[in-house]
Amino acid sequence: MAAAPTKTFYLETFGCQMNVHDSEKVIGTLEQQGYSQVQSEEAADLILYNTCSIRDKAEQKVFNRLNDTKKLLKQGKKFGVLGCVAQQEGEKIFERAPYVSLVSGSASYRKLPEMLVQLEAGDRRVTGLDDKATDETFVTEFTARSNKHRGYITIVEGCDKFCAYCVVPYTRGRERSRTSTSVLHEARQMADAGFTEIQLLGQNVNSYRDPEAKLSFAELLAAVGEVAGIRRVRFTTSHPRDFTPEIVQAIDAVPTLCDHVHLPVQSGSSHVLGLMAREYTREWYLERISWIKAAKRDISMTTDIIVGFPGETAQDFEDTITMLAEVKYDAVFAFKYSQRPNTPAIHMADSIAEEEKSVRLQVLLERQRALQKEHYGRHVGQVLEVMVEGQLNARGQITGRTSQNKTLNFTTTQMISPALGSYQQVRVTDSFPNSLVGEALLP
Ligand code: SAH
Ligand code: SF4
Ligand code: F3S
Repeated sequence: MAAAPTKTFYLETFGCQMNVHDSEKVIGTLEQQGYSQVQSEEAADLILYNTCSIRDKAEQKVFNRLNDTKKLLKQGKKFGVLGCVAQQEGEKIFERAPYVSLVSGSASYRKLPEMLVQLEAGDRRVTGLDDKATDETFVTEFTARSNKHRGYITIVEGCDKFCAYCVVPYTRGRERSRTSTSVLHEARQMADAGFTEIQLLGQNVNSYRDPEAKLSFAELLAAVGEVAGIRRVRFTTSHPRDFTPEIVQAIDAVPTLCDHVHLPVQSGSSHVLGLMAREYTREWYLERISWIKAAKRDISMTTDIIVGFPGETAQDFEDTITMLAEVKYDAVFAFKYSQRPNTPAIHMADSIAEEEKSVRLQVLLERQRALQKEHYGRHVGQVLEVMVEGQLNARGQITGRTSQNKTLNFTTTQMISPALGSYQQVRVTDSFPNSLVGEALLP
C-alpha cells in the first residue's frame, strides 16, 4: 500500500523565548497529527506565523509578512495566525487578511488537533480564542525541542502585573504556575535525553506559586539545579517587585545555577516607574541590586529599558542614564515606547516625539556600549567554562557561551574541534563590548 501523502507545514516565530518554546510545542503537536515541517512557505500546505504584539513594529511585521506571502494562496495553501497578535486581534484578523483561516492564541494550543481537523474539513474561520483565565498552561509530551543540549521549560504562564504599557496580560492571560512536580519531572526527562542546560521561563518567574505549595521559586531553582546530569540552569524574566534574597542565596549555594540575573528596570526614575505602574521605586530596585552584588559569586546583571514613556522628562531620562554606571549592567535591551491596544497607557498622550525617543535611545545605547567595554575587561586573564555553541568559523574560532551568558570566541590547539554542546575551559585573552576572546586549555 502506498503511503498517504504527507501534509506539510511551515512555521515562523516572532517575539520572546516563550513564543519560541510554544512553537516547539506546536511543532511536536503537528507532527503527532501527521504533518511534517518544511523550511519554506513554497513547500508548505499550511503556513503558520506565531506572532508577537509587544510593540507596534512587531505587530506590523506580521501583517506585512502575510501580505508578501498571500500570492502563494493561489496554490491552495492555508494560513494560520498564532500567538499574541492572534489573541489580541481575534476574529478581526479574518477581516484584515481574509485568506487566513486559523486564528489561535497560546492558551488554546491544546485544542490544535481539533482545530486542524476543522481546517482540513474546509472550515474557513477556525478560532482558538479561549477564556485565558481558566485555561491551563500548555504542557505537551510532544514538544519538539530544536536544540539537543539546552532547552526551555515554562514554569509560569501569563502575567498579573498589568504594567501600564504592556500587552502581555491581555495576550497571554492571567498568571498561572505549573506544579513543581511536573516541572521537575520534565527536567529529569530532559536530563535523561541528554540535555545539560535548562532555561526556566515565565513573564515573571519570581511570582511562581507552586499549586501544590511544595516549593518556592528559589527552592524550585535549586531543585532543578540538583537534577543529575544538569550542568546549567537559567531563568527569565525576573521582576524587581517579587525578587527575593533567597534567589541570590540559591545561586551562591548551587553551582549549576548560572551566575546571571536579568532584572528589567524599565526606567531609573521613580516618577516614571509610578506612571508605568511597576510597583517599585528606584531605591527598591537598587536594594535588590545590592543583594546581587553582595553575593559570593560574580553575578552578571542585564536589564530592559523603555525610553520616551508618556511624561518622561529630560531629568527622568537622566535618572535612567545614571542607573547604567551605578548598576554596571553587562547588557541592556532598550526600546522606544510604543503605544499598545488595550493597555492603560493608551489613555495617556504619547507625548514624547518620535525623534526625541530616537535621540534618547541612541544616547543610552552609546553610554552603555562605552560602559560594557570596561565591564567585559574584568574577564581578561580568567579561565571560564563555556558550552560550545558554534563550530570552527572562517577566522579559526569556535563560539562558546559562559555561565554569565556571554559569548566567548576561542581558538584551540586540539586536532579535533570540540563537539557542539560540550563544555570547555577557556582562558580569556581579550574583550570587546559584546564578546570575549580566548584560548582553550588542553584537557
Ligand atoms: N515580563 C518581562 C518582559 C516583558 S516584554 C518584564 O516584566 O520585564 C519585554 C520588554 O519589552 C519589556 O521588559 C519592556 O522593556 C519592553 N516593552 C514592553 N511593552 C512595551 C511597549 N509598549 N513599548 C516599548 N517597549 C515595551
Ligand atoms: Fe508586561 Fe509588566 Fe507583566 Fe512584564 S511584568 S509581562 S512588563 S505586564
Ligand atoms: Fe511578544 Fe507575546 Fe512574548 S507579545 S514578547 S510574544 S509574550
